[in-house]
Amino acid sequence: MKHTITLIPGDGIGPEIVAATVRVIEATGVDIEWETHILGAQAQEKYGTTLPDDTIESIRRNKVALKGPQMTPIGKGFTSVNVGLRKALDLYANVRPVRALPNVPCRYPELDLVVMRENTEDLYAGLEHIVVPGVVESLKIITEKASTRIARYGFEYARSNGRKKVTAVHKANIMKLSDGLFLECFYNVAKDYPELEADDKIIDNCCMQLVMRPEQFDVLVLENLYGDIVSDLCAGLIGGLGLAPGANIGEQGAVFEAVHGSAPDIAGQGIANPTALMLSAVQMLNHIGENDAAKRMHGAILAVFAEGRSITRDLGGTAKTNEFARAIEEKIKTGASVAA
Ligand code: NAI
Repeated sequence: MKHTITLIPGDGIGPEIVAATVRVIEATGVDIEWETHILGAQAQEKYGTTLPDDTIESIRRNKVALKGPQMTPIGKGFTSVNVGLRKALDLYANVRPVRALPNVPCRYPELDLVVMRENTEDLYAGLEHIVVPGVVESLKIITEKASTRIARYGFEYARSNGRKKVTAVHKANIMKLSDGLFLECFYNVAKDYPELEADDKIIDNCCMQLVMRPEQFDVLVLENLYGDIVSDLCAGLIGGLGLAPGANIGEQGAVFEAVHGSAPDIAGQGIANPTALMLSAVQMLNHIGENDAAKRMHGAILAVFAEGRSITRDLGGTAKTNEFARAIEEKIKTGASVAA
């Protein structure tokens, strides 16, 4: 079957890791026509807007996009196009699997959990204003609708992926109304999944537990900001940001992207690690029903890590982005694979 997928190269290291990932996907033999579109600063220059209708429409039409990281200016300038895109397409569930890879030195080589982040509201609503000079107000929006649907997505995901436990993460002891509502919605949904264990943790304790005893967690369901922070923490547990994949999923489509950003400090040098985006592409292939290609691609990535010869610089190796991609491509072609 032929698929049409929107491709967004992104900023900084984006075009380098996207090219490497496309090359590896194509080695699996899946039939994909890519529709390339831009966002952010590049789009601002070309179309006078950071979120062009063409790009949004392409994702709505194709229902799937593979996206490189987009830069957001700090403190001033345009608002995040990543947040804008998730809002425009109502991509409410950010699914971030956290699994260590063979041979990658890390604190928890056996770790296997999933961070499920609500993607559309919370402090990311962008409702900030100056009350009087020297005093600003930033509004945290939590709704029953968004809290219920992310909880349901988390439980459904756990059920269909053989997971055993779902944990809500919150600060309802302090934010009694907002986080209290999030927690209430979580336990209401939990009633429909009696075979799954449901519990909750306060965010600060959860961070400590993740560092000391992460094996107690399986699927974590979090509001937007906590989910953002905890997913980077989890990336640190398995060896770093270059390894953490993600998917943004909603009724109108799904956008697959790495957890990390545009890494301007190493952009243009051909040394970025494309693993996180490649693992996001594995999620994408499963999402579009190309399970066999997903399995072969995942197996080939693991085989390259298990062999340990082509490792990028961030993980202590010397392989360039394209050398790493070539090594995976060869494994796919020869059918070499390590079971996921
Ligand atoms: P970052 O994730 O881009 O970089 C943090 C550190 O990790 C840097 O030292 C970088 O070199 C390293 N790193 C990240 N990805 C890597 C990779 N694939 N291979 C090797 N090393 C890697 O975070 P930072 O610096 O906070 O953000 C840079 C820009 O990215 C900002 O404009 C930010 O807004 C944007 N960003 C975009 C995201 C997205 O598009 N989804 C997500 C996070 C940040």
